[in-house]
Parts: sequence; C-alpha cells; structure tokens
Amino acid sequence: MGTDNKAKLTYFQLLKEDLVILRFVPYDGMPDYEAGQFLTVGFPIPAENYKVIRRAYSIASHPENKKYFELLIRWVRKPLPGRVTTMLMGSSEGDEIIWGDCVGNALTINEKLPDGRKDERRIVCVSGGTGLAPFISFANHLHDVGDKREIICLHGVSYVDELSYRDHLTKLETESQDRGKDKWNFTYRASISRPKEWFNRSWSGHKGRVEEFLKSKGGGLSALEELVGEKITKDNTMFYICGWQGTIDGSMKYLKPKGFVTMPDKREDGSFEAKFESYG
Ligand SMILES: Cc1cc2nc3c(=O)[nH]c(=O)nc-3n(C[C@H](O)[C@H](O)[C@H](O)COP(=O)(O)OP(=O)(O)OC[C@H]3O[C@@H](n4cnc5c(N)ncnc54)[C@H](O)[C@@H]3O)c2cc1C
Ligand SMILES: NC(=O)c1ccc[n+]([C@@H]2O[C@H](COP(=O)([O-])OP(=O)(O)OC[C@H]3O[C@@H](n4cnc5c(N)ncnc54)[C@H](OP(=O)(O)O)[C@@H]3O)[C@@H](O)[C@H]2O)c1
Repeated sequence: MGTDNKAKLTYFQLLKEDLVILRFVPYDGMPDYEAGQFLTVGFPIPAENYKVIRRAYSIASHPENKKYFELLIRWVRKPLPGRVTTMLMGSSEGDEIIWGDCVGNALTINEKLPDGRKDERRIVCVSGGTGLAPFISFANHLHDVGDKREIICLHGVSYVDELSYRDHLTKLETESQDRGKDKWNFTYRASISRPKEWFNRSWSGHKGRVEEFLKSKGGGLSALEELVGEKITKDNTMFYICGWQGTIDGSMKYLKPKGFVTMPDKREDGSFEAKFESYG
C-alpha cells in the first residue's frame, strides 16, 4: 500500500446522475506523474467502523497541469451501492479526501522501441465508458509537449450523454485540422452501443461497441483503417485499451490475427504493440 495523502475537493461536475468529473488539490502540492497512471482515493466507511477503503482511479488530468488532479468516475450502484463511489457521490466541493500516490505502467505512453529508437508509431486509444480517463491525460499531455505522432481517440458508450469530454476532444480534432497534421495530428471518434434506444435517436455517428472500429468489414478494411487511410500493422500502430475486460478481449480478437501482442505477453526481444488496463 502506498502513502496516504490528504486533499481538498475543488470541483464536482455531474454529467448525469451516476457520472462525475471531479478535481482535487493536494495539501502538499502536486507531485510528478506520467500520463496513463492511476491513484487511489480512500474514505473512512461508517458501516465498516470507519475503516479506510481505497479504490484505484485513472488520472484524467495531465502531468503538465500542476493545479489539480482530475478524475472521471461512475457511481457503482448494482447490485449494491459501491463503498467508495457512494461516498464520492455524497461529497461536495470543499470536502477532504484521502488519496494515494500515482502509480502503474500498464498504460503509460511508449516512447522507445526495444532497439532504442524513438517510437513513432500511430497511437490508437480504445476506451469504453470511464475507461476514457487515461486517454484525456494522454491527449492533453501529447498536445502540451508538441508530440508529432498521429493520435486516434476512440470512445464507446451506451448513451450519448455518457460521451464525457466530447467537446474537448472535438476541439482538439478541429485544432488539428486548422494547424495542420504535421503540427498536431489528432482524431476523435465515438460510438454508441445501444443505438436503437429512444434516448440515442439523434445519434448519426458510429454504432456498436468501440472495438467494432477494429473489425474488418466483409474481409476488407476496418472502420479504423478507413479513417487512417491505410492498413493497420504492428509496425505502424501502437494500441492502448482501457475498459471492461470484454473491450480488451474484443479488441485483441481483431488484433491478434494481425500479429499484435500485448505488453504482458511481449516477445523475447521486448517488443509489443498493445497496452491495456481492464476494469478490475
Ligand atoms: C487501475 C484501475 C483504474 C480505475 N479507474 C477508474 C476510473 O477512472 N473511473 C471509475 O469510475 N472507476 C475506475 N476504476 C474502478 C474503481 O477502482 C472501483 O472498482 C469502482 O469505483 C467501484 O468501487 P466501489 O468501492 O464504489 O465499489 P465496491 O464497494 O468495491 O463494489 C464493487 C462491486 O461489488 C458490489 N458489492 C458491494 N458490496 C457488496 C456486497 N456486500 N455483496 C455483493 N456485492 C457487493 C457492488 O455493487 C459493485 O458491483 C478503476 C479500477 C482500476 C483497477
Ligand atoms: N482502469 C480501470 O480499471 C477502470 C477505469 C474506469 C472505470 N472502471 C470501472 O468500470 C465500471 C464500468 O465502467 P463504465 O460504467 O464507464 O462502463 P459502461 O458505461 O457500463 O460501458 C461502457 C461501454 O462498454 C460496453 N460494455 C459493457 N460491458 C462490456 C463487456 N463485457 N464487453 C465489452 N464491452 C462492454 C458498453 O456496451 P453496452 O451498452 O452494450 O453495455 C458501453 O459501450 C465503472 O463502474 C468503474 O468502476 C475501471
């Protein structure tokens, strides 16, 4: 277990009744961390004799932002209210929270290939629901450091009002078109997995679970390949996947036949083409 630190909640934006973007400011200042890492948030739980229960949350803010941490959190309600998310949903700006140090390398951005050359492959982020959080950190970090790689951010949700950060990601794509892809190369595409539901009636974009972007259509190109204008290969693309285990398995089902391997299964020479973090 890492160190317990204290912080003040400074921002609480309810996107819908069970989805929130929140910010907190550590009392002891912002530490250094890497895009794609996570931290823990803890609460003393009244029903458990005020024992502190901690849960992991991907950091949505980026390392260059030295003002606050930002998280994207789903209130877990079924079958029973989740302990930490229920405490968080009952919190307000000004409240104190306990947080634990930034850790994890399952989703950090790959900078070098095993032979020491710079990793210049296209970055494709595949996320389901709140699994978008680490990729908001990726996008803002890569933007701030002026990274020239092509970045494709794919986000899948059940309902249109769960497309968190849609405006921000659209702005990043517009900036890419305005400035030129040689300066900032960013594309955002969303998918709705329950397109037939009345609430989603206005949706005219991509339909299906997010991993369907990787599925070849009738033996031809996938929607992702049509988007980037070439075949996706392990030499030109690096995948980062975050969401339910089904999202990771579903993505790898399409990538494995193309020879892609994940970091945990890396080859003897240290090479791999996919990193992932699953909802554990
Ligand atoms: C690396 C990592 C990053 C993560 N990042 C995020 C993130 O960015 N955003 C996010 O929203 N989540 C994230 N999570 C998930 C998060 O860590 C928690 O698992 C989640 O918020 C639920 O915590 P909880 O304490 O509210 O629920 P818990 O109390 O742990 O409950 C978990 C499940 O068990 C059920 N349950 C609870 N009590 C009982 C009981 N007595 N009997 C039967 N069932 C019960 C609940 O209904 C729920 O389905 C991440 C997880 C990992 C591992
Ligand atoms: N890094 C992490 O480990 C991490 C990060 C964020 C969140 N979480 C945890 O994960 C939980 C669920 O996240 P969420 O509420 O954001 O997701 P969600 O809204 O339930 O689902 C997001 C998308 O994933 C699809 N999906 C659901 N189950 C799937 C499966 N088994 N296989 C493939 N796709 C599936 C959904 O499709 P349908 O419409 O078809 O259901 C939807 O398109 C949260 O409660 C949170 O605690 C973990």
